[in-house]
Formats: sequence, structure tokens, C-alpha cells
Amino acid sequence: MSIFNELMPQYQLMPDAYREIPTAEMERRVREIKQKYGDELLIPGHHYQRDEVIQFADVTGDSLELARLASLNTKARHIVFCGVHFMAETCDILTQEHQHVILPDQRAGCSMADMANIVQTEEAWRLLTEQVGDTILPLTYVNSTAEIKAFVGRRGGATVTSSNARQVIEWALKQRKRILFLPDQHLGRNTAYQLGIPLEEMAVWDPYAQRLLTDKNPEQIRIILWKGHCSVHEKFTTAQIADMKRRDPDIRVIVHPECTHDVVVAADDAGSTKYIIDRIHQAPAGTKWAVGTEMNLVRRLAAQHPDQQIVSLNPDLCPCLTMNRIDLPHLLWSLECIDRGEATGIIKVPEAIAEDAKAALERMFEHV
Ligand code: 13P
Ligand code: SF4
Repeated sequence: MSIFNELMPQYQLMPDAYREIPTAEMERRVREIKQKYGDELLIPGHHYQRDEVIQFADVTGDSLELARLASLNTKARHIVFCGVHFMAETCDILTQEHQHVILPDQRAGCSMADMANIVQTEEAWRLLTEQVGDTILPLTYVNSTAEIKAFVGRRGGATVTSSNARQVIEWALKQRKRILFLPDQHLGRNTAYQLGIPLEEMAVWDPYAQRLLTDKNPEQIRIILWKGHCSVHEKFTTAQIADMKRRDPDIRVIVHPECTHDVVVAADDAGSTKYIIDRIHQAPAGTKWAVGTEMNLVRRLAAQHPDQQIVSLNPDLCPCLTMNRIDLPHLLWSLECIDRGEATGIIKVPEAIAEDAKAALERMFEHV
């Protein structure tokens, strides 16, 4: 194979002509296809998606809600998933054979999910079990590849989302003495800390150095945190919180648990995407918020609640670049491909991986 072939993407890219179509025309064509397909077409949209896309979502939610809704829907033959790759994989794992899941832009990955690959994970497991024996239960944030979910499922572990990490970690620590938490060190640390586990009983596993970053005896460690993070949520800092509070002591700071531990401790409140949305929906008029999560959601919350003052904790924050790859032209293109009988961007997890990954997802549903 030539170097040129190797560098070419393995998936189809949207023709440039779609960028030239006026917005009103694109919206009209999306509406027409939605009407034509009715229940046969489902468009789930994650809360971090752009407004231009979310306006066409049949269901919106965080990753837990979207996974649950996917497992309940049996009618839709075409599921056009507006979110990122790992969410579309989860949707494929939880839906049936006659349904196919499409990601409108195959480049919509998640940098956090890419921070743990299966080769690194198997090697970590081998080295860790050599040190502490059969005492570890693996858990993975749903922000991980299907292969990692399958790895966890095969070993009796479960997936978690930011909405249920607490319950799943509590359950896991009743099964085994310690857990390996992939791939987001911050969600793992923040949740375990909330459960009363001291930081001294946690250590980070560095997949490149292939060792635990601690000088303690591994026997003392109960929470092994994979060295991964979200590049969007890691940009929030305690300096931003101090700055907000200095300018307005009444402002309430609320952040996602993918933020670093010092930020979560310094904030007034912390919780999953759904938790943040619910807190703001329930707050009285006049409440002031600085929100530490993805920009599209913060902007939407501000527009929905003009009676409250809602700003991003980091005014310079970029939105999640991969979530933002799904835009109106890509949505229209993928719908028109389906309509021509040439669906593209289909996400299909191989059977053997899907089966074990499903076991990990089902164990999560059992405990929430
Ligand atoms: P939720 O589990 O809150 O939907 O978060 C998904 C995500 O990607 C957050 O960065
Ligand atoms: Fe991944 Fe972070 Fe984007 Fe969520 S916000 S999809 S964790 S990169």
C-alpha cells in the first residue's frame, strides 16, 4: 500500500458543496427527511451539541440518558447520533440487529477516550495483578472505546457515567478490595473522594511509564486512576474561580466532575451534565452562576434562563472541538445519504467486542 493510501481517511468525507447551501435551505431539507421517515428515524442529541443540530434532535440527554433511550427504542431503523464516537458505539451495542447507528462526521472522537487503548490496558492489568493479585475490579467511564468496555465486561466490571459514578464505585468496592478506573483520573478521584476515600489511598497509573505514580506500597492503594483527562474540562482553574468570586461574591460556581480535584473542591457545587442542568432549571430568578462545562451547553442554559445570570467559568474556553464537528451540513448530508440508500458513517462494533461491552453496560444499569 502506498503512503498516500495510508494517509487517506478510511471514511467518507462530506462533499464541500454542502457548506455552500444556505441555512434555511438545509433546515428545510432536514425537516422534509424527518417527516418522511417518522419513527423509522431517530436523532439523539447530546447536551454539548450545537444549537443548529440540537433543534432537530428527537431526544436530548447526557450520555447515560442517551444510552438508556437507545436501549429502549426498537422502532427506528436509522439512528443518526449527534454526539461523539464512543456514544455512537454504545448506542450500537445497545440497539438491535435491524437498527443501524450513524455518526454524521466520523472525525467526532473524544480525546479522553483515546487516552486508553486496549494494548496499554492489558499490559497495565498484567503488571498490576502481578503486584496485588486478584484484588482489582476494573471500571470504565463510558467515555472509552468499545474494546475497553469489553475488557472491563470480561472481568466482571462495569461502565459508569458522570451521573452514576458514585453508585457504581460503591458497588465495585463491595466486590473487590480495589478498583482500576479508566480513563478519566479526575472523575475517578472526585467521586472516590466524595465517597470518603482519602487521596492517600489513590494513585495514578501512567500507561507510558507503565507504573503507579506513588511511593506507597501498592497494597495501600484502593483506587487506581488511569492517567487520562478531558482537555476541555481540564482548562478550568482555581484562579478563574477566585477571579469570579472577587468580581461577584454572590456568584455560584458549579462544575463538572471531569474538572481537576482542586477545582471541584473550590467550586460551590459539582455534578454531572444532568445535575448541572437540573440545578439551574430549579434555581430562582436572579441566581448567578459561573458554569464549568462545555460552552454549547452553557450558552444554551443562559438563553433558556434570561432571568438568571449564567456565564462560563472560563470566558475564553473553546467548545469541545470534536462534539462541534457535528454541524448542520453534516447532519443534512448523513440524512440525504440514508435517503439515497447509501448510508455512510455507520458505526458497527464487532460482535465479540459488543457482547462483552454490553455486559459492562448492563451491570451499570443494574446498579443505578
Ligand atoms: P455526560 O456523562 O455528563 O453526558 O458527559 C459526557 C462527556 O463527554 C462530558 O465531557
Ligand atoms: Fe470527550 Fe471532553 Fe469532549 Fe466530553 S468534553 S466528548 S470528555 S473531549
